[in-house]
Amino acid sequence: MNILLLGSGGRESALARVIAKSSKTDKFFITPGNPGMKQYGDCVDLKGFDQIGDFCKTNDVKILVVGPEQPLVDGISDYFAEKEDLKDIIVIGPNKVAAQLEGSKDFSKHFMQRHNIPTAKYATFTSQTLEQGKEFLRTLSSPYVLKADGLAAGKGVLILDDLNQAEKELEDMLKNEKFGEASSKVVIEEFLSGIECSVFVLTDGDNYVLLPEAKDYKRIGEGDTGLNTGGMGSISPVPFCNEEFMQKVKTNIIERTIQGLKAENINYQGFIFFGLMNVGGDPYVIEYNVRMGDPESESVFARFDSDIVEAFTLVKDKRLKEYNININPLTATTVMLCSGGYPESYEKNKVISGLDNTFDAIIYHAGTKENADNQIVTSGGRVLAVTCLGEKIQDALDKCYKTIENISFDKMYFRKDIGKDLL
Ligand code: AMP
Ligand code: GLY
Repeated sequence: MNILLLGSGGRESALARVIAKSSKTDKFFITPGNPGMKQYGDCVDLKGFDQIGDFCKTNDVKILVVGPEQPLVDGISDYFAEKEDLKDIIVIGPNKVAAQLEGSKDFSKHFMQRHNIPTAKYATFTSQTLEQGKEFLRTLSSPYVLKADGLAAGKGVLILDDLNQAEKELEDMLKNEKFGEASSKVVIEEFLSGIECSVFVLTDGDNYVLLPEAKDYKRIGEGDTGLNTGGMGSISPVPFCNEEFMQKVKTNIIERTIQGLKAENINYQGFIFFGLMNVGGDPYVIEYNVRMGDPESESVFARFDSDIVEAFTLVKDKRLKEYNININPLTATTVMLCSGGYPESYEKNKVISGLDNTFDAIIYHAGTKENADNQIVTSGGRVLAVTCLGEKIQDALDKCYKTIENISFDKMYFRKDIGKDLL
């Protein structure tokens, strides 16, 4: 079966690795891909839905796997579903309506409220209701959580200790378009105190397969300090996601979400990422994403020992309950190697060395490209994800950090404390 994967980051590298391993995969294409992904498939440059659709027809692609959220929010699944000659292609990724679970915080909070899915209390405001928003803030206690409604490249959430500052930021978001159109609506939420984890499923709209859970390390600095990033590392499995906790996740969150989508006639085929807060043993949804996580995927798929393409084919006919998932019981750890300065401004085009001598680590490329001299250079904030498996967290981490000793580029930065809070 011919497959096309959309994306170019660490998450798509992790997906590419498991897709390439499947005995069901014939020709495997990735657009745009990156230099590290060339070992898994053919990287092709396609721009826009029309080019992607034409490419699928010409190359007899049977499955389109969408890595990032933006094309989903922009309606790539609907585009395929509406075209007579594309509608039989299996698209892994939800349609535009369903993608609002990630694309609009207001939509997702309403959805959770309608279906009794545990989440922080909230209210939504616009520039017309700014004063009511400020009043609502005064009824809450510090810290204050403000969320831009739309996609804001992971920067649209503010957590503020001071009420005056929260009122000022609310005004900046609503009146001065701090996050552009994304903050034309703002969700104000009760602050939840606990420890975060990420849970993933693949669903066909009726059934679901639970993937391994993971913990992400979001802040740039050690001890979880400093600015938020896309994620600096990940661990899977997560020790506190025990059977009791995961049973609550399944019953109160995953199943209510899938039943809720179905009840609203929203046909969902693809991954759902539940960003959860464990509050005293009870899971609450912090956010939905309509894709896999990054850098969670790097750890999750390192433990994935089944045929992912078989799962994709079962999605089409809503037969996912027939799928047998095998998960490697070892622990996977991922450490992100970043450009110095990230998540603020950073330099690019730094030559990367040491990519050949990597023991049994998986080196996923996240932000790399090839320069005119055929050297691999940096091209993003998060550059490489180093993933290792081990009996225990410490074993896997030791392997990651040992591997990293051999890799270098100018101003390379990584966190040395990934997973330490779980040891
Ligand atoms: P989000 O984009 O909604 O996942 O928010 C980004 C980050 O802000 C989350 O990963 C949490 O660390 C934090 N956060 C979001 N909402 C809350 C909340 N209600 N209580 C505490 N922390 C939150
Ligand atoms: N690691 C968090 C995310 O992918 O959104």
